[in-house]
Amino acid sequence: MSATTAANSPATDRDRILVCVAWPYANGPFHVGHVSGVYLPADIFARFSRARGADVLMVSGSDCHGAPITIRAEREGVTPLAIVERYHAQFLHTFDRLGIDFDLFTKTYTENHYAVTQEIFLSLLEAGYLYRDRMTGSYSETQGRFLPDRYVEGICPNCGYARARGDQCDNCGTLLDPEQLGSPYSVLDGGPITFRETEHVFLDLGKLEPALRSWLDGADRSHWRANTVAFTRNWLREGLHGRAITRDLDWGVPVPLPDEVFKDKRIYVWFDAVIGYLSASKEWASLVGDPDAWRRWWDETDPAAAAARSYYFLGKDNIPFHTIIWPAILLGYGEQNLPYDVPAAEFMNLEGEQMSTSRNWAVWLPDIEERYQPDAIRYYLTALAPETRDSNWSWGDFVTRINSELVATWGNLVNRVLSFTYRNFDGRVPQPGELTARDHALLAERDAAFARVTTLLEGVHLRDALKEALAFAGAVNRYLDETAPWKAIKTDREAAARALFVAIQALNTLKVLTTPFLPFAAERLHAMLGFDPGDEATGTWSGRGAGGRITTPATARWAIGPVPAGQPLLPPEPLFVKLDPKVADEELERLRAATVGE
Ligand code: MF3
Ligand code: ZN
Repeated sequence: MSATTAANSPATDRDRILVCVAWPYANGPFHVGHVSGVYLPADIFARFSRARGADVLMVSGSDCHGAPITIRAEREGVTPLAIVERYHAQFLHTFDRLGIDFDLFTKTYTENHYAVTQEIFLSLLEAGYLYRDRMTGSYSETQGRFLPDRYVEGICPNCGYARARGDQCDNCGTLLDPEQLGSPYSVLDGGPITFRETEHVFLDLGKLEPALRSWLDGADRSHWRANTVAFTRNWLREGLHGRAITRDLDWGVPVPLPDEVFKDKRIYVWFDAVIGYLSASKEWASLVGDPDAWRRWWDETDPAAAAARSYYFLGKDNIPFHTIIWPAILLGYGEQNLPYDVPAAEFMNLEGEQMSTSRNWAVWLPDIEERYQPDAIRYYLTALAPETRDSNWSWGDFVTRINSELVATWGNLVNRVLSFTYRNFDGRVPQPGELTARDHALLAERDAAFARVTTLLEGVHLRDALKEALAFAGAVNRYLDETAPWKAIKTDREAAARALFVAIQALNTLKVLTTPFLPFAAERLHAMLGFDPGDEATGTWSGRGAGGRITTPATARWAIGPVPAGQPLLPPEPLFVKLDPKVADEELERLRAATVGE
């Protein structure tokens, strides 16, 4: 798993990229923080990888199990499945609106997922990585059942705070066990909590620790984000010990053991959810009629998978499940590719305050996806991506950045070049004649920008990649201010033709560079430049070249074919809608009106 494996491996005909996206609990809609940190970056990276000709598989689905779902269902008096179906449908709608394109977005509530989870459970048991033990659970006397730690509250033994949670005190930060709380009660109904013995199956992380450590230490992890490394180290510092992977519940994957005692227990949601990446890959393979196809990304013994790289997109609170638990499960199961990168996101605030779903202090996708262009949302969410630190959504900033960056720098550039060309050169790309030093300088700048954006995308530095692309659009604007074809046309038609020809080549490069970020606009621009939607001959659109190998340096693969002189253009139309500055106030008002508890 060294950094150069993929580029050097002789065994593959194509580079394989597996894009794994954290499975959202289907218990509520997406807010902008989820999309900015997880789903959108995954889609951008997948689009970039596909455009380079890699064999990409992007999977995820609704996380259907666990207390977040059952508790919501109880509150509403409906079944967990009804909750899952409702939000699953909303997720699909949001992905469709925003152009977030999964190969498969499934659910953990499928026969396939249950079967794969149970198969892995049994194979870990067989290999001696699972054991049975008794532990104490928090039991609600009024509801007659065990409760997850965070649904128990009581007095903090450390600071005396009266409403410390069973897993952690929010007042002093101490990590807790429910048993340490004074006067524990259930947050669901306020009733008393007692502690009872219960039997569970444990994953023997201690036994897997040596293999896990040698995997972690045995390869270059310098491409991992600082928070990914830090969260992983913190967990390892304390040493690994067994973790219960079953729960006293009736909603979830049944425990595949014959004993009566497990009839009323289910596999723990986190154990089955991470297995979703593999089960969804298998489901996808069956759906495309090639049941072994998943092996190209997973199976270490398959030569096609030898250089496959898997990327896991998620929020920082999910890191240890993906850098420790999931790799440990895979190591115990055997012969599967482990994560190559785990680009985890920080949090997003809203108008300078922490988002809060309970107070409804949040910007929800099902709401804004109806009011704004998908590319405008994608633009702002990428410009704001919480890649290295927490970021902040602000409606004033949203309007400013859409208008002054997306519309003014990029949309207007396209519009002025294509409209002027269309009107003055018979709707065709002009004949350039001999290029000047200034023209060559812009094209050189273009090549440099192309290389920089590509390198940033490869390293999953998406925010900076988009910034670089926009910076190059700024350079093209300056080139046009200098060459001023609108003036030149009156005195030197050839000079005007040349400048427009060069600008159109730059637009074509920017089309390619913005494709992963702004797919809707890029597709329209592609057509306005006179290309057919599926045109691959130019190497510019889908970019799937022969064999689909990613070559090094990356610029070689995404080679930009020219837009030929004489090519007929389509009548240009503005790519983006400029926002009325009033929008910011209206949205703020809407947000404040919807917030509860203020
Ligand atoms: N449902 C979890 C959450 O929303 C994430 C699960 S990610 C997976 O925090 F890997 F386990 F699928
Ligand atoms: Zn405390």
